[in-house]
Amino acid sequence: MDVTSGPVWIDGQVVDGTDALVHVMNPSLHYGWGAYEGIRFYPSGTPELTGPLVFRLREHIRRLFNSSRALGMRIPYTEQELIRACADLALRSGLSSGYLRPLVFLRAGAMAVAAQLTDVQVAIGCWAWSGYLPDADKGIRVRTSGWVRSGPAQLPPSIKSTGGYINPSLARLEAVRGGDHEAILLNQAGRVAEASAANVFALLDGVLVTPPVEEGILPGITRDALLDLAADLGVPTQQRPLAPAELRMAEEVLLAGTAMELVAVTTLDGLPVGEGTAGPVFTALRAEFDKAISGQLPAHRDWVTDVTGVLDPVSTSP
Ligand SMILES: Cc1ncc(COP(=O)(O)O)c(C=O)c1O
Repeated sequence: MDVTSGPVWIDGQVVDGTDALVHVMNPSLHYGWGAYEGIRFYPSGTPELTGPLVFRLREHIRRLFNSSRALGMRIPYTEQELIRACADLALRSGLSSGYLRPLVFLRAGAMAVAAQLTDVQVAIGCWAWSGYLPDADKGIRVRTSGWVRSGPAQLPPSIKSTGGYINPSLARLEAVRGGDHEAILLNQAGRVAEASAANVFALLDGVLVTPPVEEGILPGITRDALLDLAADLGVPTQQRPLAPAELRMAEEVLLAGTAMELVAVTTLDGLPVGEGTAGPVFTALRAEFDKAISGQLPAHRDWVTDVTGVLDPVSTSP
Protein backbone atom coordinates (compact mmCIF):
# COMPACT_ATOMS: atom_id res chain seq x y z
CA MET A 1 0.00 0.00 0.00
CA ASP A 2 1.45 3.36 -1.06
CA VAL A 3 -0.86 6.18 -0.01
CA THR A 4 1.30 8.97 -1.45
CA SER A 5 1.71 8.14 -5.13
CA GLY A 6 -1.91 8.02 -6.36
CA PRO A 7 -3.78 11.07 -7.69
CA VAL A 8 -5.06 13.60 -5.14
CA TRP A 9 -7.99 15.98 -5.55
CA ILE A 10 -7.15 19.18 -3.71
CA ASP A 11 -9.09 22.45 -3.82
CA GLY A 12 -10.87 21.43 -7.01
CA GLN A 13 -7.80 20.18 -8.94
CA VAL A 14 -6.49 16.66 -9.44
CA VAL A 15 -2.71 16.56 -8.98
CA ASP A 16 -0.04 13.91 -8.62
CA GLY A 17 0.15 12.61 -5.05
CA THR A 18 3.71 13.89 -4.77
CA ASP A 19 2.48 17.45 -5.52
CA ALA A 20 -0.36 17.45 -2.96
CA LEU A 21 1.57 19.26 -0.25
CA VAL A 22 0.60 21.42 2.73
CA HIS A 23 2.76 23.67 4.88
CA VAL A 24 4.23 22.11 8.05
CA MET A 25 2.80 25.05 10.01
CA ASN A 26 -0.71 23.93 9.10
CA PRO A 27 -2.82 24.32 12.28
CA SER A 28 -4.76 21.10 11.60
CA LEU A 29 -1.49 19.19 11.88
CA HIS A 30 -0.74 20.83 15.23
CA TYR A 31 -4.15 20.77 16.91
CA GLY A 32 -5.85 17.79 15.20
CA TRP A 33 -8.65 19.99 13.86
CA GLY A 34 -9.99 18.18 10.83
CA ALA A 35 -12.76 15.88 9.63
CA TYR A 36 -12.42 12.94 7.32
CA GLU A 37 -14.08 9.90 5.76
CA GLY A 38 -12.94 6.50 4.56
CA ILE A 39 -14.83 5.18 1.54
CA ARG A 40 -14.34 2.01 -0.49
CA PHE A 41 -15.06 1.24 -4.13
CA TYR A 42 -15.36 -2.18 -5.73
CA PRO A 43 -15.72 -3.79 -9.17
CA SER A 44 -19.25 -4.31 -10.39
CA GLY A 45 -20.60 -7.85 -10.07
CA THR A 46 -23.52 -7.27 -12.42
CA PRO A 47 -23.64 -6.52 -16.17
CA GLU A 48 -26.16 -3.73 -15.46
CA LEU A 49 -23.50 -1.57 -13.79
CA THR A 50 -20.15 -0.58 -15.30
CA GLY A 51 -18.26 0.17 -12.11
CA PRO A 52 -16.23 0.77 -10.16
CA LEU A 53 -19.02 1.05 -7.58
CA VAL A 54 -18.52 3.33 -4.58
CA PHE A 55 -20.19 1.93 -1.47
CA ARG A 56 -22.58 4.36 0.24
CA LEU A 57 -20.85 7.42 -1.16
CA ARG A 58 -23.70 9.83 -0.41
CA GLU A 59 -23.89 8.72 3.24
CA HIS A 60 -20.14 9.18 3.70
CA ILE A 61 -20.17 12.65 2.15
CA ARG A 62 -23.18 13.60 4.27
CA ARG A 63 -21.30 12.49 7.42
CA LEU A 64 -18.24 14.49 6.31
CA PHE A 65 -20.39 17.62 6.12
CA ASN A 66 -21.97 16.86 9.51
CA SER A 67 -18.58 16.31 11.18
CA SER A 68 -17.17 19.49 9.63
CA ARG A 69 -20.18 21.53 10.71
CA ALA A 70 -19.84 20.22 14.26
CA LEU A 71 -16.24 21.50 14.24
CA GLY A 72 -17.30 24.91 12.91
CA MET A 73 -15.70 24.35 9.49
CA ARG A 74 -17.72 25.32 6.42
CA ILE A 75 -16.80 23.19 3.42
CA PRO A 76 -16.51 25.48 0.36
CA TYR A 77 -18.15 22.88 -1.94
CA THR A 78 -21.55 21.23 -2.21
CA GLU A 79 -22.12 17.58 -1.32
CA GLN A 80 -22.73 16.87 -5.01
CA GLU A 81 -19.40 18.46 -5.96
CA LEU A 82 -17.53 16.20 -3.53
CA ILE A 83 -19.50 13.15 -4.72
CA ARG A 84 -18.37 13.93 -8.27
CA ALA A 85 -14.80 14.57 -7.10
CA CYS A 86 -14.68 11.13 -5.42
CA ALA A 87 -16.11 9.41 -8.49
CA ASP A 88 -13.68 11.26 -10.77
CA LEU A 89 -10.71 10.30 -8.62
CA ALA A 90 -11.73 6.64 -8.39
CA LEU A 91 -11.97 6.51 -12.17
CA ARG A 92 -8.67 8.35 -12.75
CA SER A 93 -6.86 6.05 -10.32
CA GLY A 94 -7.36 3.21 -12.80
CA LEU A 95 -8.03 0.88 -9.86
CA SER A 96 -10.92 -1.58 -9.98
CA SER A 97 -11.16 -1.49 -6.18
CA GLY A 98 -9.70 0.98 -3.75
CA TYR A 99 -10.11 3.42 -0.91
CA LEU A 100 -10.99 7.13 -0.99
CA ARG A 101 -9.99 9.47 1.84
CA PRO A 102 -11.66 12.91 1.82
CA LEU A 103 -10.08 15.21 4.41
CA VAL A 104 -11.35 18.63 5.53
CA PHE A 105 -8.70 20.76 7.21
CA LEU A 106 -7.61 24.32 7.89
CA ARG A 107 -5.41 26.33 5.56
CA ALA A 108 -2.03 27.37 6.96
CA GLY A 109 -1.99 30.97 8.16
CA ALA A 110 -3.00 31.75 11.70
CA MET A 111 -1.67 29.54 14.49
CA ALA A 112 -3.78 29.37 17.63
CA VAL A 113 -6.23 26.90 19.12
CA ALA A 114 -9.53 27.05 17.18
CA ALA A 115 -8.35 30.01 15.07
CA GLN A 116 -9.23 30.59 11.42
CA LEU A 117 -11.97 27.95 11.27
CA THR A 118 -13.47 29.57 8.17
CA ASP A 119 -10.45 29.04 5.91
CA VAL A 120 -11.07 25.43 4.99
CA GLN A 121 -9.38 23.16 2.46
CA VAL A 122 -10.53 19.80 1.13
CA ALA A 123 -8.30 17.04 -0.21
CA ILE A 124 -9.23 13.55 -1.37
CA GLY A 125 -6.70 10.74 -1.63
CA CYS A 126 -7.15 7.41 -3.39
CA TRP A 127 -5.18 4.19 -3.14
CA ALA A 128 -5.46 0.41 -3.28
CA TRP A 129 -6.06 -0.92 0.22
CA SER A 130 -6.95 -4.57 0.06
CA GLY A 131 -6.45 -5.74 3.63
CA TYR A 132 -6.61 -3.37 6.59
CA LEU A 133 -5.65 -6.22 8.95
CA PRO A 134 -3.29 -9.00 7.82
CA ASP A 135 -4.93 -12.43 7.39
CA ALA A 136 -8.26 -11.06 8.66
CA ASP A 137 -10.17 -13.70 6.67
CA LYS A 138 -9.01 -16.28 9.23
CA GLY A 139 -10.45 -14.24 12.11
CA ILE A 140 -8.68 -11.79 14.39
CA ARG A 141 -7.44 -11.50 17.97
CA VAL A 142 -8.97 -8.62 19.91
CA ARG A 143 -8.46 -7.33 23.43
CA THR A 144 -10.64 -5.21 25.65
CA SER A 145 -8.73 -1.97 26.08
CA GLY A 146 -7.74 -0.28 29.30
CA TRP A 147 -8.43 3.00 27.49
CA VAL A 148 -12.02 4.25 27.81
CA ARG A 149 -13.81 5.60 24.69
CA SER A 150 -14.01 9.38 24.90
CA GLY A 151 -17.56 10.40 25.73
CA PRO A 152 -20.04 12.80 24.12
CA ALA A 153 -18.96 15.61 26.48
CA GLN A 154 -15.25 15.15 25.62
CA LEU A 155 -14.56 14.21 22.01
CA PRO A 156 -17.95 13.08 20.68
CA PRO A 157 -17.41 9.73 18.90
CA SER A 158 -20.19 10.64 16.44
CA ILE A 159 -17.92 13.35 14.96
CA LYS A 160 -15.34 11.74 12.70
CA SER A 161 -12.59 14.21 13.57
CA THR A 162 -8.87 13.68 13.01
CA GLY A 163 -8.01 14.60 16.62
CA GLY A 164 -10.69 12.23 17.88
CA TYR A 165 -8.57 9.31 16.67
CA ILE A 166 -5.93 9.77 19.38
CA ASN A 167 -8.20 7.94 21.84
CA PRO A 168 -8.85 4.79 19.72
CA SER A 169 -5.26 4.91 18.44
CA LEU A 170 -3.95 4.54 22.00
CA ALA A 171 -6.20 1.51 22.43
CA ARG A 172 -5.05 -0.06 19.15
CA LEU A 173 -1.40 0.59 19.99
CA GLU A 174 -1.84 -1.20 23.31
CA ALA A 175 -3.50 -4.16 21.53
CA VAL A 176 -0.94 -4.45 18.74
CA ARG A 177 2.01 -4.15 21.16
CA GLY A 178 0.43 -6.97 23.14
CA GLY A 179 0.26 -9.20 20.06
CA ASP A 180 -3.42 -8.69 19.14
CA HIS A 181 -4.90 -7.17 15.99
CA GLU A 182 -7.51 -4.81 17.38
CA ALA A 183 -8.96 -3.27 20.54
CA ILE A 184 -12.50 -2.93 21.81
CA LEU A 185 -13.04 0.19 23.92
CA LEU A 186 -15.63 0.38 26.68
CA ASN A 187 -17.63 3.55 27.29
CA GLN A 188 -17.62 5.66 30.46
CA ALA A 189 -20.26 3.35 31.98
CA GLY A 190 -18.07 0.28 31.42
CA ARG A 191 -20.21 -1.10 28.59
CA VAL A 192 -19.04 -2.05 25.10
CA ALA A 193 -18.60 0.96 22.80
CA GLU A 194 -16.66 0.11 19.63
CA ALA A 195 -13.35 -1.02 18.20
CA SER A 196 -10.64 1.47 17.20
CA ALA A 197 -12.00 1.73 13.65
CA ALA A 198 -15.10 -0.47 13.55
CA ASN A 199 -18.41 -1.17 15.24
CA VAL A 200 -18.97 -4.29 17.34
CA PHE A 201 -21.63 -7.00 16.94
CA ALA A 202 -22.20 -10.03 19.19
CA LEU A 203 -24.39 -13.05 18.42
CA LEU A 204 -26.21 -13.90 21.64
CA ASP A 205 -28.72 -16.76 21.58
CA GLY A 206 -29.05 -16.27 17.84
CA VAL A 207 -29.72 -12.51 18.09
CA LEU A 208 -27.21 -10.13 16.53
CA VAL A 209 -26.72 -7.40 19.16
CA THR A 210 -24.89 -4.11 18.66
CA PRO A 211 -24.65 -1.08 20.98
CA PRO A 212 -26.93 1.84 20.05
CA VAL A 213 -25.50 5.21 19.03
CA GLU A 214 -26.32 6.59 22.52
CA GLU A 215 -23.66 4.28 23.98
CA GLY A 216 -21.02 6.60 22.48
CA ILE A 217 -20.02 5.22 19.09
CA LEU A 218 -19.50 6.43 15.56
CA PRO A 219 -22.77 5.59 13.78
CA GLY A 220 -21.04 3.36 11.27
CA ILE A 221 -22.30 3.19 7.71
CA THR A 222 -21.20 -0.45 7.46
CA ARG A 223 -23.01 -1.13 10.76
CA ASP A 224 -26.17 0.32 9.26
CA ALA A 225 -25.81 -1.89 6.18
CA LEU A 226 -25.14 -4.96 8.30
CA LEU A 227 -28.32 -4.45 10.34
CA ASP A 228 -30.29 -4.47 7.07
CA LEU A 229 -28.43 -7.46 5.62
CA ALA A 230 -28.95 -9.48 8.82
CA ALA A 231 -32.69 -8.74 8.63
CA ASP A 232 -32.69 -9.81 4.96
CA LEU A 233 -31.13 -13.13 6.01
CA GLY A 234 -33.67 -13.64 8.79
CA VAL A 235 -31.15 -13.06 11.59
CA PRO A 236 -32.88 -11.08 14.37
CA THR A 237 -31.04 -7.91 15.40
CA GLN A 238 -31.14 -5.74 18.49
CA GLN A 239 -29.54 -2.39 19.29
CA ARG A 240 -29.05 -2.35 23.04
CA PRO A 241 -26.31 -1.72 25.62
CA LEU A 242 -23.84 -4.60 25.70
CA ALA A 243 -21.90 -5.67 28.80
CA PRO A 244 -18.28 -6.81 28.31
CA ALA A 245 -19.18 -10.17 29.91
CA GLU A 246 -21.72 -10.74 27.13
CA LEU A 247 -18.94 -10.59 24.56
CA ARG A 248 -17.30 -13.53 26.37
CA MET A 249 -20.56 -15.50 26.25
CA ALA A 250 -21.27 -14.72 22.60
CA GLU A 251 -21.50 -17.44 19.97
CA GLU A 252 -19.85 -15.05 17.52
CA VAL A 253 -18.32 -11.56 17.67
CA LEU A 254 -17.94 -9.45 14.52
CA LEU A 255 -16.38 -6.09 13.69
CA ALA A 256 -17.72 -3.92 10.87
CA GLY A 257 -16.23 -0.80 9.31
CA THR A 258 -15.25 0.58 5.93
CA ALA A 259 -11.51 -0.10 6.17
CA MET A 260 -11.68 -3.58 7.72
CA GLU A 261 -15.06 -4.37 6.14
CA LEU A 262 -16.50 -7.35 8.03
CA VAL A 263 -14.22 -9.51 10.18
CA ALA A 264 -14.81 -12.30 12.68
CA VAL A 265 -13.25 -11.99 16.13
CA THR A 266 -12.00 -15.48 16.93
CA THR A 267 -10.00 -14.66 20.09
CA LEU A 268 -11.07 -12.15 22.73
CA ASP A 269 -8.73 -11.34 25.62
CA GLY A 270 -6.79 -14.52 24.90
CA LEU A 271 -9.83 -16.82 24.95
CA PRO A 272 -11.59 -18.35 21.91
CA VAL A 273 -14.88 -16.80 20.83
CA GLY A 274 -17.41 -19.60 20.22
CA GLU A 275 -15.56 -22.39 18.41
CA GLY A 276 -12.56 -20.10 17.87
CA THR A 277 -13.23 -19.89 14.13
CA ALA A 278 -15.40 -17.66 11.93
CA GLY A 279 -18.99 -18.74 12.62
CA PRO A 280 -21.93 -19.43 10.28
CA VAL A 281 -23.65 -16.06 10.81
CA PHE A 282 -20.43 -14.23 10.00
CA THR A 283 -19.96 -16.39 6.89
CA ALA A 284 -23.51 -15.75 5.67
CA LEU A 285 -23.29 -12.01 6.36
CA ARG A 286 -19.90 -11.74 4.66
CA ALA A 287 -21.29 -13.43 1.53
CA GLU A 288 -24.30 -11.09 1.51
CA PHE A 289 -22.04 -8.07 2.11
CA ASP A 290 -19.89 -9.10 -0.88
CA LYS A 291 -23.03 -9.17 -3.03
CA ALA A 292 -24.13 -5.76 -1.73
CA ILE A 293 -20.82 -4.01 -2.46
CA SER A 294 -20.72 -5.38 -6.00
CA GLY A 295 -24.26 -4.22 -6.80
CA GLN A 296 -25.72 -7.74 -6.88
CA LEU A 297 -28.57 -7.07 -4.44
CA PRO A 298 -31.40 -5.29 -6.26
CA ALA A 299 -32.98 -4.29 -2.92
CA HIS A 300 -29.79 -2.40 -2.00
CA ARG A 301 -28.76 -1.06 -5.40
CA ASP A 302 -29.07 2.45 -3.96
CA TRP A 303 -26.08 1.70 -1.70
CA VAL A 304 -23.69 1.73 -4.65
CA THR A 305 -22.77 4.64 -6.88
CA ASP A 306 -21.54 3.69 -10.33
CA VAL A 307 -18.72 6.17 -10.96
CA THR A 308 -19.37 6.23 -14.69
CA GLY A 309 -23.02 7.14 -13.93
CA VAL A 310 -21.97 10.11 -11.76
CA LEU A 311 -19.62 11.49 -14.38
CA ASP A 312 -21.91 10.90 -17.34
CA PRO A 313 -23.32 14.39 -18.15
CA VAL A 314 -26.70 12.95 -19.27
CA SER A 315 -27.20 11.13 -15.97
CA THR A 316 -29.24 12.96 -13.35
CA SER A 317 -28.92 10.55 -10.42
CA PRO A 318 -25.73 10.20 -8.36
C1 LIG B 1 -14.24 4.57 15.66
C2 LIG B 1 -14.95 3.97 14.49
N1 LIG B 1 -16.11 3.31 14.69
C3 LIG B 1 -16.78 2.76 13.67
C4 LIG B 1 -16.32 2.85 12.37
C5 LIG B 1 -17.10 2.24 11.25
O1 LIG B 1 -17.69 3.25 10.47
P1 LIG B 1 -17.99 3.06 8.92
O2 LIG B 1 -18.67 1.76 8.78
O3 LIG B 1 -18.89 4.20 8.60
O4 LIG B 1 -16.70 3.10 8.21
C6 LIG B 1 -15.12 3.52 12.12
C7 LIG B 1 -14.61 3.65 10.75
O5 LIG B 1 -14.57 4.69 10.21
C8 LIG B 1 -14.43 4.10 13.20
O6 LIG B 1 -13.29 4.76 12.99
